[in-house]
Amino acid sequence: MKRILVTGGLGFIGSHTVVELQNEGFEVVIIDDLSNSKIEVLDNIEKITGIKPDFYQLDLRSKQNVQHFFNENTIDGIIHFAAFKAVGESVQKPLDYYENNIGSLVYLLQEMRDRNIDNFIFSSSCTVYGQADELPITENAPIKPAASPYGNTKQIGEEIIKDSCTAHNMNAISLRYFNPIGAHDSIKIGELPLGVPQNLIPYVTQTAAGIREQLSIFGDDYETPDGTAVRDYIHVVDLAKAHISALQRLLDKKNKQNFEFFNVGTGKGSSVLEIVNSFEKVTNQKLNYKIVARRAGDVTAAYADTTIANQELHWKTEKSLDDALLSAWKWQESQKG
Ligand code: UFG
Repeated sequence: MKRILVTGGLGFIGSHTVVELQNEGFEVVIIDDLSNSKIEVLDNIEKITGIKPDFYQLDLRSKQNVQHFFNENTIDGIIHFAAFKAVGESVQKPLDYYENNIGSLVYLLQEMRDRNIDNFIFSSSCTVYGQADELPITENAPIKPAASPYGNTKQIGEEIIKDSCTAHNMNAISLRYFNPIGAHDSIKIGELPLGVPQNLIPYVTQTAAGIREQLSIFGDDYETPDGTAVRDYIHVVDLAKAHISALQRLLDKKNKQNFEFFNVGTGKGSSVLEIVNSFEKVTNQKLNYKIVARRAGDVTAAYADTTIANQELHWKTEKSLDDALLSAWKWQESQKG
């Protein structure tokens, strides 16, 4: 049985990936510092899969912590989610973002080098493309200057991994996520935003639930069919499964280069207004919203060309946008009281 380290394994995408790993027969050990996650998620993973993953509450910003972990554990592959992820906050606290997102990554890669551990999957983002010149966005689209320190940590992270793969004969895949949404079918795990949500879907569900008074739609003067910005919203379970496919590719030594990167989206763009309308339709809820000014740093439109990911990872999305929105709503409802 292969033993996989999942850093940030109690977070939104991490927890869904742990479930899929266990479903596929992998043994999982989680590292999470609980800075943006809850320990209850560990029990909920066990409720879904029947298996409680090993867990270390540990801060990866300490090289000593990282060394200590690897002294105690034999690992066949790493899926690295642990990172700060709030775009706006990263502008206020760039050094925290560089320390956490880059420092932790370097320590992990150093341990991999020193202990001959291979097979690394990195959480990257479509943010590396900025406003792409052509849509849908292929993996060949140029990397644009980062719009935020957060985005920069993803770009720099990919460079660091690429250089490490070249120098130290390691193999890695970077997955460039589009917009992950939704919750597990069991409604036992989902997104747990801290404080006021920055992302669209948790803001929508909290507004429908009466926690927020009104959704602000940031801009209706974009060059899109209805004027609101367009994104590629992917069900988190489909996204989680892409990690298993990428990991299997590395374990089977099917990768064509030491460092590869793939777009993980649905290939379909939806505008903010389309999301609002679909949400209202599938949940039978009425959303209170207003149009406000654009949000700084937002791009007009981003959606993936998934051809290469579909072919190379033997992976494709299985769930619809409606599935994702309904599960997000059920998850919100399950959080009452
Ligand atoms: N939006 C609103 N109102 C809200 C929140 C969002 O109208 O209250 C709009 C945004 O303006 C955007 C769309 O909904 O057009 C999606 O916004 P999100 O914040 O949910 O997602 P982003 O596309 O902005 O963010 C994603 C990832 C980040 C990544 C970023 C790069 O979540 O990790 O893309 O642009 F950095």
